[in-house]
Amino acid sequence: MSAATQLQLSSFARDVAAGFSDPRQKYLSARYFYDDLGSVLFEAITLLPEYGLTRADERLLRLHAGEIASFCTGVSLVAELGSGTGKKTRNILQAVSKSASRLRYSPIDVSAGALACCERELFDAAEIEPVCADWLDGLAEIVHNRVRNSSLLLLFLGSSIGNLDRSCIQDFLRRVRSYLRPGDFFLLGADLMKNTDTMLAAYDDPTGVTAAFNLNMLARINRELDADFDLRAFAHEVRWNSTERRIEMHLLSGREQTAYVGALEASFAFQPGETIWTESSHKFTLCELEDYARASGFTPLKAWADHEWPFAEALWKA
Ligand code: AVI
Repeated sequence: MSAATQLQLSSFARDVAAGFSDPRQKYLSARYFYDDLGSVLFEAITLLPEYGLTRADERLLRLHAGEIASFCTGVSLVAELGSGTGKKTRNILQAVSKSASRLRYSPIDVSAGALACCERELFDAAEIEPVCADWLDGLAEIVHNRVRNSSLLLLFLGSSIGNLDRSCIQDFLRRVRSYLRPGDFFLLGADLMKNTDTMLAAYDDPTGVTAAFNLNMLARINRELDADFDLRAFAHEVRWNSTERRIEMHLLSGREQTAYVGALEASFAFQPGETIWTESSHKFTLCELEDYARASGFTPLKAWADHEWPFAEALWKA
């Protein structure tokens, strides 16, 4: 590949090149699931009977929004990391707005489509000020422009924290804390440890929606990077890693094969049984969440756990 071509490569192309060249384990970041089709497939996953996570998150926010808001005194700005469509945020905004004369809501997302959805969904609940950026860049922008004398409630829902590497979680939370002022609040939604079969089924539904979500990663490389992956020669594979306490999703090569990626002017070889690791979904305990809070400079105030699907909303104060 020429030096000029290398310079022009998108970060997606560069990440494909790096992840598919790792001799120990091929990998690709889960952030690349969410193109238009991937986002629709994720919305479908949230409706699956086997995937109780989103319903638990929504149930907790519906049932406890009032109590959560009662802790959040002086909040006039709510921000959300990775807001998605913003559907589950309505209850919190409504509860917080009861004690705020003027409530602003800043959803932060890399998807302009998701932010537009947020604005349509929540225009009557707060003044919406969307930020199209990566999570921490968006948060930096918001805190840079915030007014004095009012508190911020930062939301990080849906157990997106679980998709970070376990080794990065503490550092990520410390960085979040560094953007907040004493007296700000952080509400974290996290999926809890549960029966292994239940966790495996949540990521390997019999209708094949999660398999399509996973395989769409290769379809996206074909579409955007001019590649020729044969999707039928890869299978969705789900593993429970008990040491790291996480579900891992992989794409398993069914035969010896080579795929050409036009944007990289490069071919990648796959052995039968070799996998591309596409996602980790870590699972937590309530004690572990409290430890994370303290180790990153927060005071844990209260956690609410769902009775049907072990999942928690943890409220921390900066
Ligand atoms: C977005 N995230 C919290 C989901 C999860 O459960 O890890 C993504 C997902 N992957 C497969 N199913 C859902």
